[in-house]
Order: sequence, then structure tokens, then C-alpha cells
Amino acid sequence: MLVLGIESSCDETAAAVVDEHGHVLSDVVSSQLAVHAPYGGIVPELAARAHLESIVPVVRGALAAVPDGLRAIDAIAVTRGPGLVGALLVGIETGKTLAWAAGVPLVGVDHLAAHLLAVFLRRGEGDAPRPTFPFVGLLASGGHTAIYEVRSPTEITLLGQTRDDAAGETFDKAGKLLGLGYPAGPKIDRLAQHGNRRAVVLPRPMANRRSPDFSFSGLKTAIARHVEQHGVPENDAAMADACASVQHAIVETLADKAIDACGRHGIPRLVLAGGVAANRGLRARARELGEKHGVEVFVPPIASCTDNAAMIAWAGHVRLAHGDRDDPAALAPYAKSPDLKRGKIRA
Ligand code: KG4
Ligand code: ZN
Repeated sequence: MLVLGIESSCDETAAAVVDEHGHVLSDVVSSQLAVHAPYGGIVPELAARAHLESIVPVVRGALAAVPDGLRAIDAIAVTRGPGLVGALLVGIETGKTLAWAAGVPLVGVDHLAAHLLAVFLRRGEGDAPRPTFPFVGLLASGGHTAIYEVRSPTEITLLGQTRDDAAGETFDKAGKLLGLGYPAGPKIDRLAQHGNRRAVVLPRPMANRRSPDFSFSGLKTAIARHVEQHGVPENDAAMADACASVQHAIVETLADKAIDACGRHGIPRLVLAGGVAANRGLRARARELGEKHGVEVFVPPIASCTDNAAMIAWAGHVRLAHGDRDDPAALAPYAKSPDLKRGKIRA
């Protein structure tokens, strides 16, 4: 059973083919970084246009890795949201067209649920062991930062979330202030390795363990104030120190609250998800706290953390196995997860 997944919610156009065991047969990601970099952030209209240019070659690339191509595909899964509506429409319309042409079912998938289930993908070397249910999921990306209780692939409850900026957004804004360009997360990660994380004293907003919610806007302001007072770090050592301090302030808060949620809910398993889960500091901090508190920490390979379509295909398998499918005529995008407000999301 092969599912073709299509992702176009933000600034990556992606397509992948995944089998019913989670094996990734193909995984093509086309990034729009160069399109948005001059603006220091994602421009929705440009994102939609870039998806339109990339979607056909990306889908072709994903199908080329499968003998018989589209004829071998049993179903199509596409991201419905949350995300940029103009961008989502490109993937959704492509999914509808291919499902109609191939005569196979179509399922719409929630991008956040797909991130949380990406740990089940099988890519080969570097795969995390598969967690058993229930587990706590820390999802930290450019647009979202939240902690979930994942009781089963289809029972996902929101425990806490950011009240302002997302963790990835905070990395990116800090990087902009430090003159590192966009997106800054991976650069800060690299530079932080040689820095002293105690060099710049930064606040830990909402560090109060009792609240599962985050707030990162105060941290951003503190970094801006530091740059105002001391200027942009002038040498490599000072830049490394600033990056290490920023990174530690973000990842310490994320890891602390996630491990704390495991304790409060009596769930000794934590899964990291989303682009920020690629961060080496976060991975190390979560593992360190996990060992201390008896929580097993599951860290998917980086290709499964950052935006990709293999996770969409896998979340599609989950919905199909549940007997779900969507009416292509009615499938529409959403900017925010409609079920999230009620504390639940579904794959
Ligand atoms: O999940 P993702 O690929 O896209 C969204 O759904 O948002 O996450 C992108 C975000 C960006 O803010 C980027 O700076 C951040 O993840 N990111 C990182 C790292 N790699 C990507 N942040 C910190 N360290 C990294 N290694
Ligand atoms: Zn994402």
C-alpha cells in the first residue's frame, strides 16, 4: 500500500511516497529559501507562486523513484492546514487532480499532527526507535510551539502552547538582530557549538513550571536591547557566545516544560518534532533532562523534523487505516487547525 504525500503549507514544496510500514520510498523537498531571504521572512504571495512553479517537478521526482509511478499509488494525502491558504491551495488542487486522474482516494492531513507522527517514519540509518502510546510531543517549528499528549495516532490533545512567538520564529528574529540572515535557526545552532551559553544573561519568560505555556517575545526584546547596548558581536568568539546564550535560553525553556509535562501526566516518553527539533542544543538538553527524570526521549532524524511530505503521507496512512477519506469536491484548506481550539487535533 503506497501513499503519495503532498506538502505546500509554508515555504517548502514537497512530495513523498511512503508504504504502510512507514518506509520512505522517496522524499523530495524544494525549499524557497532564496525567494524569501531578501525579505527576512516568508512573503505569502511569493510562496504561493513558487509552489505553483515547483509542484509538478517535485511530484514527478517523488513518483520517479517508484516503479510504475502514479499507477503504483493507492491513495493521495495532502496538507489541509494550518498554513498559508494560497500556498495550501496549490498542494490541495494538485492532490485532487492526481487522485481524480489515478482513480484513488484522497485524504486531507493536519500539518501539526503529521509533525507529531513523523517519528514513525522509517528512513534507515539514524531512525529513532518507535515510541509506544501514549507519549508527550514537543512540537517546535517556525510557526508553532506547543506540547501535546498523543494517546493514539488519532487522539492528540493540546497541553500548552506559546502565547506569542514560536520558538523557530524566535531563533529567526534573534538571528536577524545579530545580522545572521534568514532563517537563522541552523546558523545559530552551528555557531553556538563553540560559544559560552552563560556569556549573555537572558530572561526565561514563563519559566514557571506549573504553566505548560510558553512566551518568547520578552526574550526577543532582551536580545534587541543587548544588541542596542553592545552592538552586533564583532568577532567570531563574541558571536558564538551570543548564539550559545540565545540558543540555551530557548531550548532550556522548551526542554524543561516538555519534561515537566511528562511528569505531570505520568507519561515517561517524549517525542521531539518540528524544525527546531533539528537543534543540537535542544536534542542534548532534552536527553539530559530525560535521563535525570526517567523519561525516554525520541528524536527523529533531521529530515523527519523539518517540513517534508513523508510525514504527510504517513499521517494519510493513519487516516486511511481509520477508514477516513475526503470528498475531493469539498476538501478545503484552513489557516489554523479548527480542532486545536477544542484542545484536540486529528491526523
Ligand atoms: O518545521 P519547519 O521546517 O517549518 C515550519 O513548519 O515552520 O521549521 C522551520 C523553523 C525555522 O524557524 C528554522 O529557523 C528552525 O525551524 N530551525 C532550527 C534549526 N533548523 C531549523 N532552529 C534551531 N536549530 C536548528 N538546527
Ligand atoms: Zn512544519
